[in-house]
Amino acid sequence: MRKLMAGNWKMYKGPAETLAFFDRFEAPDGVDVVVCPPFVSLEAAVGEEWPIYAQNVHWAEEGAFTGEISAAMLVEIGVRGALVGHSERRQYFGETDESVRARAEAALEAGLQVIACVGESAAEREGGLTEQVLERQVAVLPRHPDLVIAYEPVWAIGTGKTATPETAQEAHALIKSLHDTRVLYGGSVKPGNAAALLAQPSIDGALVGGASLDPDSFSELCRIA
Ligand code: G3P
Repeated sequence: MRKLMAGNWKMYKGPAETLAFFDRFEAPDGVDVVVCPPFVSLEAAVGEEWPIYAQNVHWAEEGAFTGEISAAMLVEIGVRGALVGHSERRQYFGETDESVRARAEAALEAGLQVIACVGESAAEREGGLTEQVLERQVAVLPRHPDLVIAYEPVWAIGTGKTATPETAQEAHALIKSLHDTRVLYGGSVKPGNAAALLAQPSIDGALVGGASLDPDSFSELCRIA
């Protein structure tokens, strides 16, 4: 199965930096690539050869939801998919399993592909709750061919504390036992650790934050995949 490499740019790269990124970024054939710029950079990016995803999407078709963007609006500008349920949205913006489900369903209904994020916190892992947390988060996700799951242990995001390949493989195998779909790993993926992670049988690609911001670094990660 082809690996999927996704770059989550979070709140980095306006339109000008987005265009500069794609002037340098290259990816080999045989690997699927998506890039998730900030909302304001989506239209600058959709003309590129790789599918562009939003980092969030609202469940309503329209309405009084200040600051939100609907799936139809994303489809209208040529966006191909959306992240839902990223841990930073769960942590800072009150995202719940129910709102993640609603966002995923609305996106799929509108014809968008979805990368749905799950993952346990350091306290949950230390408390032996990882399996319980993942089962709860995965259970609400729609079963759909256009939905991919990203396992992002919260304690590995932006910390440099990458999960070991064995730890990641264990979580991925659990998720795959619950939901038949591709499962990406996210959490401090870098060119130095990507090969060992991507060699694991249940790791189908990566959702990359910091290392996707540099075109040469993300090109190298896609070559490794
Ligand atoms: O969505 C991917 C992101 O959470 C991982 O960030 O910087 O640890 O690769 P980073």
